[in-house]
Amino acid sequence: MSDQERIISGESDSSDELSIEKSLRPQYLNQYIGQSKLKLELGIYISAAKSREEALDHVLLYGPPGLGKTTMAMVISNEMEVNIRTTSGPAIEKAGDLVALLNELEPGDVLFIDEIHRMPRMVEEMLYSAMEDYFVDIIVGQGPTAHPVHFPLPPFTLIGATTRAGMLSAPLRDRFGIVSHMEYYTIEDLSDIVIRSAAIFQTEIHSEGALEIARRSRGTPRVANRLLKRVRDYAQVQSDGVVDKKVANEALTMLRVDQKGLDFVDQKMVRTMIEIYQGGPVGLSTIAANIGEEMETIEDMVEPYLLQMGFIQRTPRGRIVTQLGFDHLGYPKNN
Ligand SMILES: Nc1ncnc2c1ncn2[C@@H]1O[C@H](COP(=O)(O)OP(=O)(O)O)[C@@H](O)[C@H]1O
Ligand SMILES: [Mg+2]
Repeated sequence: MSDQERIISGESDSSDELSIEKSLRPQYLNQYIGQSKLKLELGIYISAAKSREEALDHVLLYGPPGLGKTTMAMVISNEMEVNIRTTSGPAIEKAGDLVALLNELEPGDVLFIDEIHRMPRMVEEMLYSAMEDYFVDIIVGQGPTAHPVHFPLPPFTLIGATTRAGMLSAPLRDRFGIVSHMEYYTIEDLSDIVIRSAAIFQTEIHSEGALEIARRSRGTPRVANRLLKRVRDYAQVQSDGVVDKKVANEALTMLRVDQKGLDFVDQKMVRTMIEIYQGGPVGLSTIAANIGEEMETIEDMVEPYLLQMGFIQRTPRGRIVTQLGFDHLGYPKNN
């Protein structure tokens, strides 16, 4: 089964979705909903850097897909009133690619590297001096004529985004002055995001309708916006176009997203753990094999939310289903 079929996946996969996301993206800190601790800190650092006319410190944003990392990188560049250049770890294949990117920067600009944990080692090592002292040493020529060239850079801000902070090397992580873990959003924040997006779509929505969607969005703005889109289609065809509580509920039931935001893959995982392994402990690879998903998919896109909701737990001997998990899926007591 591909991710595309999972409406609650935090990943964005179609180009259609990307262009819609663009229109929904907040541009400034005061439009960015939630993550109040991060916004407060960034607001201070940004004002300070601007008044000193310096580049902002390097920023590392980490957290699950769809929580607003790319959006925040753009917000930062807007607030700093500088250009942003966007790339990703896997796209920078060799040192020359990085030099080309750095070469285009003007003083104070932002270089945004998505999936920064996937940069080749050599490129990463080159970033160290670029980040710390704004220069790179490159080797020009080959064989006996090869010689190092010192290449100064303008002060710039590197913003790195990663879903896996644990996969970042310590020397790289240490070079970020601002390191922030993006948190799952509260229902209230998600509901505000849904209402804001509905206004951009020019869709009429009731606050209870927005709450229904928010509750099932697994703490993730990208999922909230995606569910809103589907519910809005449903409202248009099956009703008068207004997203109220009843319409939202019907549409979400049709999409097989349950009251807590679990879709059929999540449910399958927990059910399998209960029905075949009496609730565990059971290893991740065993679960993966049983439900026909990649282990990595489970680790990135299924398990974090189930853990967050308290439906499963990690133990040294494997994963177990909690009492909450048994209850939610309607199984008798765990004993
Ligand atoms: N704090 C927020 N307020 C409003 N909308 C948001 C917020 N964070 C994310 N979004 C919406 O969710 C979508 C996905 O965010 P994105 O920045 O691409 O996530 P990430 O880069 O972490 O995967 C964006 O298009 C944006 O519309
Ligand atoms: Mg992103």
